Parts: sequence; structure tokens; C-alpha cells
Amino acid sequence: MNDLTAKILNRLSTGNDFLSGESLCNEFGITRSAVWKHIGLLRADGYQIDAVTGRGYHLSGLTGRPVEAEVLPFLTARRFGQKILYHTVTASTNLLAKALAVEGSPEGTVVVADSQSGGRGRMGRIWVSPPGVNLYFSLILRPQVPSIRVPQLTLLVAVAIHRALFALSSELEPMIKWPNDILVNEKKLCGVLCEMQSEPELTHFVVVGTGINVNQTEMPNELRERATSLFLERGQFFSRPELLASVLNHFEPLYDEWLLQDDLGFTLPYLEKYSLLQSREVSIDQRNRNLSGTVIGIARGGELKLECVDGKTILVSSGEAHLHKNNDE
Ligand code: BTN
Repeated sequence: MNDLTAKILNRLSTGNDFLSGESLCNEFGITRSAVWKHIGLLRADGYQIDAVTGRGYHLSGLTGRPVEAEVLPFLTARRFGQKILYHTVTASTNLLAKALAVEGSPEGTVVVADSQSGGRGRMGRIWVSPPGVNLYFSLILRPQVPSIRVPQLTLLVAVAIHRALFALSSELEPMIKWPNDILVNEKKLCGVLCEMQSEPELTHFVVVGTGINVNQTEMPNELRERATSLFLERGQFFSRPELLASVLNHFEPLYDEWLLQDDLGFTLPYLEKYSLLQSREVSIDQRNRNLSGTVIGIARGGELKLECVDGKTILVSSGEAHLHKNNDE
């Protein structure tokens, strides 16, 4: 959708009244026939727009896509999501957001896609991103903090997503799996991939990439045992624009608080309450070593507190956690 068409859509989506063709002409400095052309493009895109002589245009049907005009009515965040750049398909919203951040896009800018042809997961994995069903978005942040604090943002956004999921469906029982996943019934619903450009004492920008399986009605065979969606858990479809807005609404105040603090201390009780790994035996895959033990908590710096078999407690700052089989028996 081109920029002007999107602006006209935004205008139509604010307020419930008819908007005259003339006011659109004046506001955007275009002719009546140009307005008509943009209305045609929006209709072709799936929007229902009533046109009534003497009254003008009225938006009466949305598409459910996470475009700016459909997210804004749900948005209460003041900075996050004020600019939402939507793509029908892109390789990866993280890649696009990083390019935009390098060009100077402000904090709070969101890049969202209906599908990704090269969705990126952690550890070089791909993030399967089919069209029309899920949420794939990346938020640009510019925190003035030493880069050592940045990994804490992964857990912080997990708290925001967790709260947004609760707000959407109180019967859902999502759990946060350190360091970057949300699981429901021990299957992955959501993953977060934070990428940054920084120097040790200076963070230039962070891109917080989030994938949430929302309305996917079926998982591919190879993921069926490990992944789920909101639809598969609750048997109903959910609004992607509302969920995106809700994540941003919950994340902004958490982020602002985090900037004022030195660490995640202020949200540790929440993180530990909903930590899937709490008190469970796990092994942690790191690039060059494997650790085993019982999780006894999360440290203020976001590390996992692991009590090893020799009784020593260590802080684990990275890696992939696997629950021991006998946890489930
Ligand atoms: C993981 O669990 O491995 C992290 C997955 C992160 C996926 C999201 S989808 C939106 C953003 N763009 C990407 O290419 N990846 C992240």
C-alpha cells in the first residue's frame, strides 16, 4: 500500500463519521479523482468503504491485518507504534528494522509484515512465517544504556507479551521460557529475537523482533509437537491489530521503568512467577559447553540461576534451555 493510500486509510479509520471527498482533497492536496482512485485501491485491498452522495466516505469493514490504521484504535502507548510500517511480505522485519535504524528511524518505529520469506530465529534458525495468520514485527529502540544491559530487554518484552496474552484471553496459561520464548501447554507460541548495534559503553539501537503464532490453524508436521498458536489453544480467532497494540501498550511503561533502573529487579517477581523453568531440572546448551542443574530463579541481570549437581549456584547468561525428560514423568 502506498504512503498516501495508507494516510487516507488512517484518516478514515479515526472517527465513525462520514468524511467528505472535499475534506480529503484539501487535507492531502489531491483531486477528487485521485481520492476516488485511492478509495478504489483500498477496496481492492479488502476494505469496505461506503460512498454516499452528499456525505462522502465511511469505512465500514476492516481486513484484520496489522496495518497502522487498524492498530491505532487499540494503541494507548505514546511512543511505541506511532509509526507502523506494514509489508505484505518481506524477508525479515528484523532486517528491515535494522536498516531503518541505521538510517535514523526514531525509537518506537514498528516494522510489521503479513509474512516473511526469511524469518530469522535464534541460533541461525528460520522462523516459519506463513501469510494472513500470525504476527511478525520488530520494534526499534534506542536505550541510552551500556550494551551489557541490552539482553535484559528480551525478558522484559516477554513480560509485556505475557501480560498482553493474559489481557486477550484470561483462560490462556502462558509461561515464559528463559530467555526468549512464551509457551502454552509447553509448546512454543512466541519467540523474541533482539539484535543490536553498539559499542561497549554505548547502545546505538536495538531491534526487538517478535513472532507470535496467532490464528494458524495447523502446524507443519515437523513443528506439531513443539509449536502452537492462539487458535489451536483456544479454538477461536484473535485480532492481530489488537494484540500488536496490546504488546506495545504493555511494553512501553515496562521499558520506561527499566531505563530508570539498573536491572530487571522491579519485574523479577513476575518473571519468576511465570517462569516455565522455575524449580525444574534443565540442561543448557551453550556454544561450547553443556550445563545441567535445577533452576532456582532469575537474577536481576536476567541470568538464569542454576544450582548444579555439585551444589554450586551459577548464573547463566546465554544458551538454550531444555527441560529434563523426567520433569514431565
Ligand atoms: C526465536 O524464538 O528463535 C526467535 C524468533 C523471532 C521471530 C521474529 S518474527 C519477527 C522478527 N523478524 C525476524 O526475522 N525474526 C523476528
